[in-house]
Amino acid sequence: MQEIRPKVSSEYVICEEAPAPPCAMVVFGASGDLMSRKLLPSLFELAKRRLLSEQFYLLGVGRKKLSDEKFRQIAQQAVKQAFSSDTENQTQSFIGKLYYTSGDYSSASFYKSIKERIAELNTKHKVGDNLVFYLAVPPILYAEIVGHLGSSGLSCPDNSTGSQKARLVVEKPFGRDLKSAADLNGMVHKCFDEAQVYRIDHYLGKETVQNILMFRFANAIFEPVWNRDYIDHIQITIAESLGVEHRGGYYDKTGALRDIFQNHMLQMLSLVAMEPPVSFEADRIRDEKVKILRSVRPFALEPWSANFVRGQYGPGTADGKKVVGYRDEPGVGPDSKTETFVAAKLFIDNWRWKDIPFYLRTGKRLCAKDTEVAIFFRKVPHSMFVSAGLADIPPNVLILQIQPEEGISLSFQAKRAGSKICMSTLNMSFSYKSVFGVEMPEAYQRLLLDCMLGDQTLFDRYDSAELSWQLLTPVLDAWQNEDSAPWPYAAGSESFAQADALIESDGRAWRKLGRI
Ligand code: BG6
Repeated sequence: MQEIRPKVSSEYVICEEAPAPPCAMVVFGASGDLMSRKLLPSLFELAKRRLLSEQFYLLGVGRKKLSDEKFRQIAQQAVKQAFSSDTENQTQSFIGKLYYTSGDYSSASFYKSIKERIAELNTKHKVGDNLVFYLAVPPILYAEIVGHLGSSGLSCPDNSTGSQKARLVVEKPFGRDLKSAADLNGMVHKCFDEAQVYRIDHYLGKETVQNILMFRFANAIFEPVWNRDYIDHIQITIAESLGVEHRGGYYDKTGALRDIFQNHMLQMLSLVAMEPPVSFEADRIRDEKVKILRSVRPFALEPWSANFVRGQYGPGTADGKKVVGYRDEPGVGPDSKTETFVAAKLFIDNWRWKDIPFYLRTGKRLCAKDTEVAIFFRKVPHSMFVSAGLADIPPNVLILQIQPEEGISLSFQAKRAGSKICMSTLNMSFSYKSVFGVEMPEAYQRLLLDCMLGDQTLFDRYDSAELSWQLLTPVLDAWQNEDSAPWPYAAGSESFAQADALIESDGRAWRKLGRI
């Protein structure tokens, strides 16, 4: 397939990037992995881009005993690992704004001491009343910490610490089924208004996921064909070449449906399928996303193979090296039935999408890292080129490539120069990297900035969290009651027979992984 690379016009460029106001960030689970891999490097990058206020500080909270000094050393290491050494001056100024306190999450007196520390640091850094609580702890601790934030008065408006704008950021997974998500929402709402709550799905912080909205609703030419009259089907893929790495213990209790499908996958589905929102405001966008989740046709659980296929990787190769199978990963049981791959077919019962299949697949240890949305348009109704052997003309396919090569491409047919009739499929493509010449910013930068600014647009609302679980809980229950295990697939493979059958039985095929 040939490439045509369009030039991007810079005549109409509107960029708006508001810096964060003065803000205190209190991170629970501050000695953990998320803090050093994502949060600290992202906050530091915001500081470098002058999007973090000078009046900012971070109070790390954890069970591990650490002094401010030790915490700063660990943080400095994390920042150094993520950035080159030419940032030394900026690092020092950033590190000087980090503090740490340790204690027992279940003890009321710990929250009293946190409250006192916040009051002291607020005065020192002249932060005022913009306070963000970030839960980077295992989900099992969410309810307990939220309860204490409520009972200690830290969550509540107009209290003496001046935390009128206290916000709560909760990492995914938000619950593990409908009941636990609803219980957690109930607990959160006892202590925080929904307007204070930021449920993170880092996919919504990705530039290319946000671009789905701009692509659809800032161009007039796509919306008229974005429906059942012109689209044959849609494929959404989140394929990873990595295995479970060091997270076997967590992953074995989670699985691909909870880890990726319930959140990242359904978020992308909602953005691709939703109706045009009236404005780019948090609740207008979230209202439309919720309507999509409400319209997903409940899955018929029988026969399974027609709707849902789950798999689990066995031994194989990744990046040219031999790798162990899932059951041999550290922290995973030798007879684990946890799925590392899910493929599903779903329908959205509304006027726009009635009877158009959406094929979704996600898996670990596949042959490539590849996240994309592929819109397959209908084929031409009749080929006038049959006599030249061109009876079956391939359809136009629009690819919204999320990673690793962020971009957009549209395939179309054209005449080849030379012979009288010779057709070839061309690909008109746009790559973020080559056009804008920059690396994509880490998703957490966007999300951290937005929660400091009080913008909930890219965060999940309580109702969509519950609706997604409502949809998937029957599937989880059925799997739990089933004797059979997921289908095995070799690490490094592209797919396996049962996953292929899900789409091939409809006369269609999965897009090849890693081929943009
Ligand atoms: C996380 C999952 O939410 O997303 C991980 O817990 C997964 O299992 C990761 O690897 C994938 O994110 P990304 O940004 O690399 O596609």
